[in-house]
Amino acid sequence: MAYVTYQLEPDRPDPDIDIPLAIPALDAVGVDADVVGWDDPEVDWTGYDLVLLRSAWDYVPRFADFMPWARRVAGLTRLVPPLAVIERNTDKTYLRDLATAGVPIVPTHWISPGEDSGAVVLGWARVVVKPAVSSGARDTIVTADAAEAKAQVAAILASGRTALVQPYLDAVDHEGEVSVVVLGGVPSHAVRKVPALSVGGYGDASETVEVTPELADAVRAVLAAEPLAAGLPFARVDLVRATTGEWLVMELELTEPLLFLGYSPGAPERFAAAVIAALPVAPVLGELD
Ligand SMILES: Nc1ncnc2c1ncn2[C@@H]1O[C@H](COP(=O)(O)OP(=O)(O)O)[C@@H](O)[C@H]1O
Ligand SMILES: [Mg+2]
Repeated sequence: MAYVTYQLEPDRPDPDIDIPLAIPALDAVGVDADVVGWDDPEVDWTGYDLVLLRSAWDYVPRFADFMPWARRVAGLTRLVPPLAVIERNTDKTYLRDLATAGVPIVPTHWISPGEDSGAVVLGWARVVVKPAVSSGARDTIVTADAAEAKAQVAAILASGRTALVQPYLDAVDHEGEVSVVVLGGVPSHAVRKVPALSVGGYGDASETVEVTPELADAVRAVLAAEPLAAGLPFARVDLVRATTGEWLVMELELTEPLLFLGYSPGAPERFAAAVIAALPVAPVLGELD
């Protein structure tokens, strides 16, 4: 199989820290995984029984190349997550559908290209403005200045993307945003995230947190509301607690979540077991190469 990642960008050198844990765990259960860049022209995708898209984190500025790549590979071999998941989940407008399905999400104003960016009614002391297609807080700002917020909305619309405007949630700096990693459909472990807009980083974790039954319930409710989440080997649900106590969805990551495999004993092995379930044919341990 291929474990698909990206070539580090000089200005955003955030490596996939799951790789040194995932590859030996796969090897231990008889799965031979090559770590390859999605844009590597030397790769013969038809040679892999499974192409596991994991960390193609430069897809945002390279969306016009990335989506055709995903479509092409999906036509050549088994791509996981499947194309339909990649198409849907790389655009945060899926959050709107989760909200319609009754899942609490971070309060959001949506402004699509063609709509008037000047009509953004803020009503919040500090706002976050982000593009619908983004990762690692790319093109995402926090501001208390309405003119600055509108300028960022206009820039995002000019790039052809929908803009999201949200209140800045102070809970991100206090209790923290919690990422719950789901492996083989089951909540596996969780981490607290470093607040990206006040402290920085690319979505790094600060510590492991317990997956309480209440947190697991919130995660299951989110997954149940997204039909495309069923059967995936991995997913991550990023949540922030509202002042009312309920968990709000910041993101449901089905395409490129870092899985923080080093933050929980046994997580690399659970990941490997979930990947085996995604293979067309299970490996035979001890098989000669
Ligand atoms: N409304 C918000 N309030 C506080 N912090 C936010 C808010 N929206 C985003 N952030 C911060 O920015 C980070 C990136 O935003 P997110 O919506 O997760 O997009 P992505 O991870 O795809 O860039 C979050 O992990 C969080 O630290
Ligand atoms: Mg995020």
